[in-house]
Amino acid sequence: MFGRVKSLDAILATAEKKSLHRSLGPVQLTLLGVGAIIGTGIFVLTAAAAQKAGPGIMWSFVIAGAVCAAAALCYSELASMVPVSGSAYTYSYAVVGELLAWMVGWALILEYAVAASAVSVGWSGYFMGLLKSLTGFELPPSLSAGPTWSLTGVDFSHGIINVPAIVVALAVTALLMKGTKESATFNAILVAIKVAALTMFVVLTIPAIKGEHFAPFAPNGWFGPAGTSGLGIVGAAASIFFAYVGFDAVSTAAEETKNPQRNVPIGLIGSLAICTVFYLLVAGGAIGAIGAQPTALATQPGSAEFTAQCAALAKQGSTPLVCSNEALAHVLRSINYTWAGDLIGLAANLALPSVILMMLYGQTRIFFVMARDGLLPEKLATIHPKWKTPYIVTFITGVFVAIAAALLPVGQLADISNSGTLFAFFMVSIAVLILRVRDPHRVRPFRTPLVWVVALFAIAGCLMLFFNLPFEAMLVLPVWGAIGLAVYFAYGYRKSHVGRGLVEVHESDADLPSSPLG
Ligand code: ALA
Repeated sequence: MFGRVKSLDAILATAEKKSLHRSLGPVQLTLLGVGAIIGTGIFVLTAAAAQKAGPGIMWSFVIAGAVCAAAALCYSELASMVPVSGSAYTYSYAVVGELLAWMVGWALILEYAVAASAVSVGWSGYFMGLLKSLTGFELPPSLSAGPTWSLTGVDFSHGIINVPAIVVALAVTALLMKGTKESATFNAILVAIKVAALTMFVVLTIPAIKGEHFAPFAPNGWFGPAGTSGLGIVGAAASIFFAYVGFDAVSTAAEETKNPQRNVPIGLIGSLAICTVFYLLVAGGAIGAIGAQPTALATQPGSAEFTAQCAALAKQGSTPLVCSNEALAHVLRSINYTWAGDLIGLAANLALPSVILMMLYGQTRIFFVMARDGLLPEKLATIHPKWKTPYIVTFITGVFVAIAAALLPVGQLADISNSGTLFAFFMVSIAVLILRVRDPHRVRPFRTPLVWVVALFAIAGCLMLFFNLPFEAMLVLPVWGAIGLAVYFAYGYRKSHVGRGLVEVHESDADLPSSPLG
């Protein structure tokens, strides 16, 4: 299994057979990245992270951003060498063999599908907030939130099913099945809306900043009190890492990029840099304006006790930042900019579905490539005759995304997604180093600078963030991995095309939309 390596030349031959039009330049690619990155992380999870870290959340953003930047540099080297779809899964297949590639692909399900669920729940929070602010109408919590989960059981007392999240997840799935392309212009408009909303947030909150809101700066320290998991500045970084997920979507568009060797790295790193600056400003504005309220509630955000505490406070008419499902709108309303709170809610409602679209798209594309390699049933890769999309796999993925969105809180979904993403980034950083040693003379249009420093930093950073996730989220990865191994040995091991000696070049790919970008 470790010896089952797909040759890089065969992968590249597949790419060359494609007749996709290379139309994306560095600016569009950066916008694509920003479009996929800015979402539920900053709009919603800022609140929970502020609870975990206090004002030290500023460091959390820097730490998570630095790990992502290092991983992005590793991605860039591989994406420029192997500008084909499948992202980390494809790179791993070529470098560390089929078994580990399968495990990476399996972890990417956590990254993309679970992230799509998390963003659907984030959208639901902003949708309900806007609806309430504009019309006074509220769905009961039993229909607008899922139950809370812990190792000891499921608690339905503050939520049963998140109906708006199901609706948005299925609506985006339907769009993707029909093959609606988000045009590059449309994406640029949505990015402009998000950036304008965040800029408005910063401009309105900065005059309201009070120095005392930044003290104590790190009430939970770097790693949280002894005996807890996922708290402190690093714990918050592990959760807020979600805010950066999505930059690898840029690498999946490599096949449609003009001069990908130059433009993919620009797109990856440019979009991360822009987002980091915005995140720091927004986090500073939010904390400075209303404070992080780190000591008001002691337990893990998203847990059953925590949800009960928030419900009790809501009955008394108070909503601390961390209890709000629409953090940024909440901050603006708290400093008496109700109209701006509504506007930011509107921006989130308009823009978050495109993040769901990118995540779902990434997921179906990875499933598609895995099915084409024989590791999943090939029927999944069937292309619809009229829509020209892999509609079966899109439908199945969408249904699972909707179910997870219906039943889990946003913070837990994001943490689970992070566990899979960190594994994928970890593997990509290792793959870069292995390839440098094993195949030093292959042309590398983009070379990761100081690769031994950068890749080792990314590897160490991924490990550190992973081990600072809440315990339940950490546990998901090995359990999910064990299920993945069972599936591999029951199916993929026997059916694998590489294992059966078939190395094919897929001309039929040329018919497929390669990205939801036009
Ligand atoms: N980074 C994306 C978000 O925050 C996934 O929604």
